[in-house]
Parts: sequence; structure tokens; C-alpha cells
Amino acid sequence: MPHTARKNKEKDTIAELWPSAQPEKSIILLKALHILTRDGALNADSRRKLKQVLHLTQLLRPSLEALLAESREPVLADLGAGKSYLGFILYELILGPAGRGRVVGVEVRDELVDASRSLATELGFGRMDFVSSPIATANLAGGKVDMVAALHACDTATDDAIRFALRHDAKTIALVPCCQAEVAQLLKTQDGPLHQLWRHPIQRREFGAHITNVIRGLVLESHGYKVRVTELTGLEHSLKNELILAERHQLGNAQAKQELDRLIDQIGVRPALLDVMG
Ligand SMILES: C[S@@+](CC[C@H](N)C(=O)[O-])C[C@H]1O[C@@H](n2cnc3c(N)ncnc32)[C@H](O)[C@@H]1O
Repeated sequence: MPHTARKNKEKDTIAELWPSAQPEKSIILLKALHILTRDGALNADSRRKLKQVLHLTQLLRPSLEALLAESREPVLADLGAGKSYLGFILYELILGPAGRGRVVGVEVRDELVDASRSLATELGFGRMDFVSSPIATANLAGGKVDMVAALHACDTATDDAIRFALRHDAKTIALVPCCQAEVAQLLKTQDGPLHQLWRHPIQRREFGAHITNVIRGLVLESHGYKVRVTELTGLEHSLKNELILAERHQLGNAQAKQELDRLIDQIGVRPALLDVMG
């Protein structure tokens, strides 16, 4: 970008960038999520975060609006929620204005759950709840979940999120996987015909992460989801930038299951997630 254009861009204010009719009402939230500095300003870091958040919101908005059209009170479960920034943003920009729909954040760290509860109370976000629990054993009041999101849930916590989504028959699943060690570890002792693909540790880590996400996508397709894999942000922002977006459209998909079986045969490793394949 030319220097002058970049300078002008840096002068954009949050009022111009934040897609809300009343951006000033979002200031407390944006400060709490460190998208604005304590003085209410944007700096290079917060601009980057804002860009990521808006891009993600744009990607998830159509699914969430479809759920709002289908159901009176759709429930979004944000698993491995951390500070629950995703839930807060989607509530602020979509569910709040709609006046319907709930967000439940599931997070194993009590202090993050407490902080999110306090912020939701301060903001008057009455349809947000928080559950302090590992994803694998989380129980949500009412038991209904329409959409599952898991952003950068560490290693196999993403697989726990997939199991949770399948158990609750979620219509939409949005995953941005994080660091992944399980498959790379399994590949270490795997000496099949393709072993040159993972001989060196760095390539094993990358190939392991890639195969893990391919397997996740095929598992979801086998369960009747239509799967789209897309970039969350430019590589300059994050290396963990793959968004797997799955929407339920049929009961199962035998062809996807066959493809998954064939891939597993070729690679020769069986990650624990395959337990959902029965
Ligand atoms: C890297 S942070 C991402 C937080 C948030 N989703 C985000 O994108 O900002 C991962 C979070 O998942 C939580 N977490 C990891 N494994 C979990 C599990 N099995 N059950 C529940 N929470 C988990 C961690 O405590 C941490 O807060």
C-alpha cells in the first residue's frame, strides 16, 4: 500500500470500522477485548485484532442468520472460549440486535469464566451464559445446541468440540484448529510407502497438522455436513488460520466415509477422533 494511503487508513476511527449503527455503545466491550486501548484508541495490534474479528464475523454471519430464521432461540456454544471474544462480538453485532438467540461459552479455566460472566453482566448481555468445564464433559442447560464454534482450542480440544457437536446434532460447526501434536506423534513410527512426506520433524509437524484437519473435514462430511475450508486471515496475521465451516445437510455420506477409510489406509495412522465413526 502506498505510504499516503497507509497513513490515511491508520486514521480510520472505530466509528468508521465497527459495523454497528451505534458504535459508541460498543466501546466498553471493545476495550475489554483489547480491540481498543484503554484510551479508546486503535493501535497496530488492536487494528490487526479488529480485522480478524470482523473477518470472522463476516464468515459466520450467514450461518447465524440462517439459524435465527429457522429457530426462535438458536444456541451458539463457543468451546474453549478463553475470554469469549467470539461470543461477545457475535452477541453485540448479531444476536443482540436480533433480540433472540443465546451464547454459551465453555472454558476450563475458572478465572476466564468468572471474568466473562462479569463482563456479560456489566454489558447487560442477558442471553450469555458461561460453563466452567472441559469440553468433553460439558453439559449445557436445556441440552440444545444449534451452532458450535471452537477457535484455537488447543490440540485435540478441537476433536472434543467435534464430538460435542455431533452429540448435540449441531446444524453448524465452525472450527479454527490450533497447535496439533497427536498425528505428528503417530507418524513418527509410521513407516509406510509415503513416509518421505513426514521424515523430517518440521515437515512431520506440518503434515500432521494438515492431515489432522483433512481427517476432521472428512469425519464431518461422513456425518452429513457440507464442509468448506477457508482462510481466516492473511498468513501475516496468524499461522493457525484455517477455518473449517460445516453445515448439516444430510444424515450421512457414504462416499466421504469411503474416502476417509482410504486415506487412513494410505497414511497408516488412526487418530482418536475416529472413535466417532463407530
Ligand atoms: C488459545 S485459547 C483460545 C481462546 C478463544 N477461543 C480465542 O480464540 O480467543 C484456548 C482456550 O481453550 C481452553 N481449553 C483448552 N482445552 C480445553 C478443553 N479441553 N476444554 C475446555 N477449554 C479448553 C484454554 O483454557 C484456553 O482458554
